[in-house]
Amino acid sequence: MNIILLGPPGAGKGTQAQRLVDSYGLVQLSTGDMLRAAVKQGSDVGKRAKGFMDAGALVPDEVVIGIIAERIDEPDCANGFILDGFPRTVAQAEALDRMLEEKGLGLDAVIEMEVDDEALVERITGRFACASCGAGYHDKFQQPQKEGVCDKCGGTEFVRRADDNRETVVSRLKAYHEQTAPLLPYYRKRGKLKTVDGMASIDDVTRQVKEVLNNLAAAQ
Ligand code: AP5
Ligand code: MG
Ligand code: ZN
Repeated sequence: MNIILLGPPGAGKGTQAQRLVDSYGLVQLSTGDMLRAAVKQGSDVGKRAKGFMDAGALVPDEVVIGIIAERIDEPDCANGFILDGFPRTVAQAEALDRMLEEKGLGLDAVIEMEVDDEALVERITGRFACASCGAGYHDKFQQPQKEGVCDKCGGTEFVRRADDNRETVVSRLKAYHEQTAPLLPYYRKRGKLKTVDGMASIDDVTRQVKEVLNNLAAAQ
C-alpha cells in the first residue's frame, strides 16, 4: 500500500506515520526528516535547503523531487510507503505521478488531516523528540510515560526543531495555504482524497486513518 499523508505543519503527519510504520510495516518517507538530516551532515542538499527551512519557506521543487526519486528506488519501499510532507506543490505531485508510473506503482490514497490553524501553533511550539530514536512527543498532548525517558528506546536526551517557533510557524502555514492546499482538488479530482478529522485526539486520528486503510484493503 502506498499512501500520502497531507496536512498543514503540526497536523500530525509524522505522529500518525510512525504508528502506521509500527502496525502495517510500511516505510515512512518524510522529506522534512531527510532534509534535516542533510542539513546536519552539511551536504550540498543540506546547504541549499537550510535557508529556506529556517525561514519556513518551501525548499525548491527540484531538490525534494531528487531526494524522493532516489529514496523510492531503495528495496525497502517495495512493500509500501507513507509519504509524509511530500508532495507539497502541484509540480511535486506531477513529478510523483511520473515516478510511480515509471515504476509501475500505484497510489492508494491521499489522507488529508484537517486541523484548524489556531490549534497548530500550540502543537508545534510544544513538540519535542527523542534525540536517539526520533520518537515524537508533546509537552501537553503526548508526554513520555516516565518523565525524561523515551518510551521507545529509553533515551534521556530530547531535541526541539529549529523551525518550531511562532514566527516560522506563520510562514509555514502561509506556504501550506498558498502552495500545498491546491493539492486537495488535484487529488479529489483523481478520486484519491480521503479526509480525517485531525482535531480529534491522537488515538482517535489513528483509528480514523486505520479505518480508511482497512476499507481500501477490503475493496482490493
Ligand atoms: P516538515 O518536517 O514536513 O514539517 P511540516 O510540514 O511543517 O510538518 P510538521 O513536521 O511540523 O508537522 P506534522 O504534521 O508532522 O506534525 P507532528 O506529527 O510532528 O517540513 C519542514 C520544512 O522542510 C518545511 O518547512 C520546508 O522548508 C521543508 N520541506 C519538507 N518537505 C518539503 C517538500 N516536499 N517541499 C519543499 N520543502 C519541504 O505533530 C506535531 C505535534 O503535535 C507533536 O508534538 C505531536 O505530539 C502533537 N500532536 C499530533 N497529533 C495530535 C493530535 N491529534 N492532538 C494533539 N496533539 C497532537
Ligand atoms: Mg513531521
Ligand atoms: Zn527514543
